[in-house]
Amino acid sequence: MSVPGSSIPEAEGRRGAARGMSPRSLFVGVTGASGALYAARLLGELGARGCELSVCVSDVGVRVLAHELELPERGRDAVVGGLLRAAGVRDAAVFAPDELDAPPASGSSFPEAVVVCPCSLATAATIALGTTRNLIHRVGDVALKERRPLIVVPREMPLSTIHLRRLLELSEAGALIVPAMPGFYTLPRSVDDMVAFVVGRVLQALGFDDLPHPRWSDVR
Ligand SMILES: Cc1cc2nc3c(=O)[nH]c(=O)nc-3n(C[C@H](O)[C@H](O)[C@H](O)COP(=O)(O)O)c2cc1C
Repeated sequence: MSVPGSSIPEAEGRRGAARGMSPRSLFVGVTGASGALYAARLLGELGARGCELSVCVSDVGVRVLAHELELPERGRDAVVGGLLRAAGVRDAAVFAPDELDAPPASGSSFPEAVVVCPCSLATAATIALGTTRNLIHRVGDVALKERRPLIVVPREMPLSTIHLRRLLELSEAGALIVPAMPGFYTLPRSVDDMVAFVVGRVLQALGFDDLPHPRWSDVR
């Protein structure tokens, strides 16, 4: 298969998400890159589609979420609870980053797809290098070895040559890189619209057809 709108080769595309075959179980890793609103919206959209969700927030991810969601709490459980509340998700399996023995860490009990959103360039590099140190890295590593869909949503500006090399390695290994780069051809009127664009492109890559943002054909 090929990924819509891209020239990803067939072999690589097979490792990506199949269009029209949207996953029912997903692992969502949330790291310490800016973009808490992307994580909350993505979890909400997946929850609303009835997906079974496993969630892991990195240690710095907890701090960034607390700041960007303007949560009064600072502890891990309270902040992750705040994220799920912001997402409107009531039912998710939540894991700490040091739970390397959690079910999604094994290829034998693995979710159908993995999204790291937002993905720091530190986590992207660690997955690319295969030097796992936490559950998010391990799940990314397993997705690549098991040829399961892995979608990475990096956010950084500007990108160094090292960042670009690591993202290229991830892409070559089968991950789909969906950068947090909202487009403006949909004429966004709000931050929500811009968040919906990025999350919508992730959902599209996962194979969902009902998207939260307009397509070009709707607005041209
Ligand atoms: C408020 C804040 C915002 C950050 N934003 C980014 C970012 O947008 N992209 C990025 O790659 N790193 C960003 N960082 C740095 C990462 O959090 C840092 O590299 C960290 O080691 C990533 O660890 P993690 O991937 O395990 O979450 C930010 C850090 C803080 C405190």
